Amino acid sequence: MVGVYWQIYLFRQISLLRAAARSTFLLARKCRIARLGDLPGSAPAPILPRTGEPRTLNLAVVGAQWGDEGKGKIVDLLAPRFAVTVRYQGGPNAGHTVVFDGRTHALHHIPSGIFHEGVRCLVGPGTLIDPDRILAEIDGLQAGGLDLAHRLGLSARAHVILPVHLLLDSASEDDLGSSAIGTTRRGIGPAYASKAERWGVRLGDLGHRKCVEERFERALRCGLGERLRAMGEAEPDPSDIADRAAEWWQRLEVYTTDVVSEVHDALDAQQPILFEGAQGALLDIEHGTYPFVTSSSTLVGGICPSLGIPPKAVDHALGIFKAYATRVGAGPFPSEEMGQAGAALRENGKEFGTTTGRPRRCGWFDAVAARHAVRLNGLDAMVVTKFDVLAGFEAVRIAVAYEIDGERTTTFPATTTALARARPIFEDFPGWEMASAGASLDDIPANGRKYLDRLSELCRCPVAMLSVGPSREETIFMPDGMLT
Ligand code: IMP
Repeated sequence: MVGVYWQIYLFRQISLLRAAARSTFLLARKCRIARLGDLPGSAPAPILPRTGEPRTLNLAVVGAQWGDEGKGKIVDLLAPRFAVTVRYQGGPNAGHTVVFDGRTHALHHIPSGIFHEGVRCLVGPGTLIDPDRILAEIDGLQAGGLDLAHRLGLSARAHVILPVHLLLDSASEDDLGSSAIGTTRRGIGPAYASKAERWGVRLGDLGHRKCVEERFERALRCGLGERLRAMGEAEPDPSDIADRAAEWWQRLEVYTTDVVSEVHDALDAQQPILFEGAQGALLDIEHGTYPFVTSSSTLVGGICPSLGIPPKAVDHALGIFKAYATRVGAGPFPSEEMGQAGAALRENGKEFGTTTGRPRRCGWFDAVAARHAVRLNGLDAMVVTKFDVLAGFEAVRIAVAYEIDGERTTTFPATTTALARARPIFEDFPGWEMASAGASLDDIPANGRKYLDRLSELCRCPVAMLSVGPSREETIFMPDGMLT
């Protein structure tokens, strides 16, 4: 009997000790979270290596608004510091513009590092490749004298955009009428959907006739056939698709590679890698303004699953922000300017889509959305592009908070319906003139500097670079910034 009491007593003591240990652990964790949350912003990041320096650091360059922030120019500028640049998501919906020697180059699939000899440019497994479009892109670059044979590598795992995806994208947009997403109609959503439905064709499959035919037959049996018939479209013949696939393969095989292994080899060899994002944080499938988003993960976090690399492989993250805001396609845009100011931003900034030519919706810098993007990506620093476009305005504005249903908030709403009700609360700044697009910080008048400081303060992220024109030379590296 005494033995039983002892056992109960001991059991109680052990349970009490366990509970005490657990609450101490939880308290410690809470304190740590509170301390991290209390930090006013990211600490200044260490300086990036230049070519030849021993320590290698990998860098993610991502869009931090609704796309079209000017990532192409920035990646082109930074690429010579890296051995590899790799696109990890999206497809030909992207339009990255690079300007040098008076010529403008628009890239859709191919990383913007392609103009630098010695930089290996990879297109990763999480991307989509439209064979006809990428071949046109390759031909265009080769016609301009670039030898891509050793520079370009396309992942055998990347999914292929087939003609039926283009058809489905357009049909769904047409069906939606006034509620359309405003997609680029490049087949992006349907191609990612077929990947998830497991009938997608990957680049490395193109050379296997039987595989392409079987994949497509399965798709037709599992609902695609019915859908096409309902649209009044003829069912494509799997053998015709396989014929096209064979033609594409003939030209694309030479570029096809195992990108995952190449990236891991570069990591093992400590070769610096630049991860090039497409679109922007607010178009992210999970965290963007759903459903008015693209169909991939546009965030820094998307790099790892898309490329099959661990999070610790991404050392730093640089977010690209336009000095104001633009959006193409439908969806809420709280700081949009429908009047004269919006038209002036569009005019001055030549805000017409690189991929579709559509006029972009324009508005003021939205610091609520921008801070959200800084947090989602864990940005170490920001690059502010098209700063020159703001010169000449009598006054400029920043949306510093939203009012939603009578409440002021600086938190980006979780639902698109709440975002649609958000009214921007603006802070106004006196404008400035810039005689010519200077490329030194001294050329930025005091009012411009104040605007920039406030923008950085609201985002709680330091500015590392300022772009004041489309060409490489029209760039200011901030003194003591992470890129200097
Ligand atoms: P999708 O990616 O073509 O399916 O289009 C979905 C949404 O993302 C639409 O609002 C497009 O306008 C937008 N979008 C896709 N790619 C880009 C881009 O590169 N820049 C800006 N918007 C984009």
